[in-house]
Amino acid sequence: MARVHPIQERAHATPPIKVSHLSVRFDGKHGSVDALADVSLTVKSGEFLALVGRSGSGKSTLLRAIGGLTRARQGGVSIGDARVDAPPAQIRFVAQDYSQSLLPWLTVRENVRFGERHAVEGSSGGVTAVEQIIDRVGLSHAIDRYPRELSGGMQQRVAIARAIASRPKIILLDEAFGSVDALSRAMLQDMMLDLWKEFGFTAVLVTHDIDEAIYMADRVIVLNPDGKGIGAEVDISLPRPRAQLETREHPRYLEYRRELLGSVLAKPAENKARAA
Ligand SMILES: Nc1ncnc2c1ncn2[C@@H]1O[C@H](COP(=O)(O)OP(=O)(O)O)[C@@H](O)[C@H]1O
Ligand SMILES: [Mg+2]
Repeated sequence: MARVHPIQERAHATPPIKVSHLSVRFDGKHGSVDALADVSLTVKSGEFLALVGRSGSGKSTLLRAIGGLTRARQGGVSIGDARVDAPPAQIRFVAQDYSQSLLPWLTVRENVRFGERHAVEGSSGGVTAVEQIIDRVGLSHAIDRYPRELSGGMQQRVAIARAIASRPKIILLDEAFGSVDALSRAMLQDMMLDLWKEFGFTAVLVTHDIDEAIYMADRVIVLNPDGKGIGAEVDISLPRPRAQLETREHPRYLEYRRELLGSVLAKPAENKARAA
């Protein structure tokens, strides 16, 4: 049998993520905030899930809880059979602020190599060449440059390459395409979808952009304002591979958009009524 090239190996046996009755409260000087109250959901193995909702609805808190960075007040998160109470080795984050996630004194090559050195144990059948991943995100020409010599979109591509180089089973994206211009954003979205297809990791994308959520995801979940839990859940059955023009002009795309926008703009009680 032909040997599969390392870069094409999929992160098989990615376990599902289960969030059960999760509540998170932040206590501060001026009282406490219930960022999440009794949220339950499952992210299927290999799924691309998007979480949308207004600012303050608890999207980042939920993502951080999945990544083991936030403590539950009640309920919790498990991945496969393992309860998450510290950052799991098989997870990588890609945050909005790429300038904080890259090491400024390292070149593109060295930043990505840094990711590879912290590779998830047992996830890789061989060492995937750093150069290959950098090529995959279209940065071969900039491999020896420093982050400050790159545009925002290019820096975010380095951050994504670094995450991929460690061969994670799960990638968590928090507004990861939100800090770049519209054209770079579309390119990053397509690049991430290609990588997801190629490597087979589970992806959870937090975004306030409903169009981005529909364009990328298999399923979109709306969080109600003020941590009041899940308002709506929509399966996105649009053909893949997605394409910036065709997908966004698909008749079902507009239906999803209407439903999700309605849910994001609705009051939590109205969403409850819709769900009933
Ligand atoms: N570390 C923290 N300390 C105190 N309050 C926080 C902290 N992180 C988030 N919150 C509060 O929790 C709520 C949810 O925040 P967040 O998860 O960041 O929402 P979103 O990402 O949807 O904008 C907000 O009211 C926010 O102010
Ligand atoms: Mg946030």
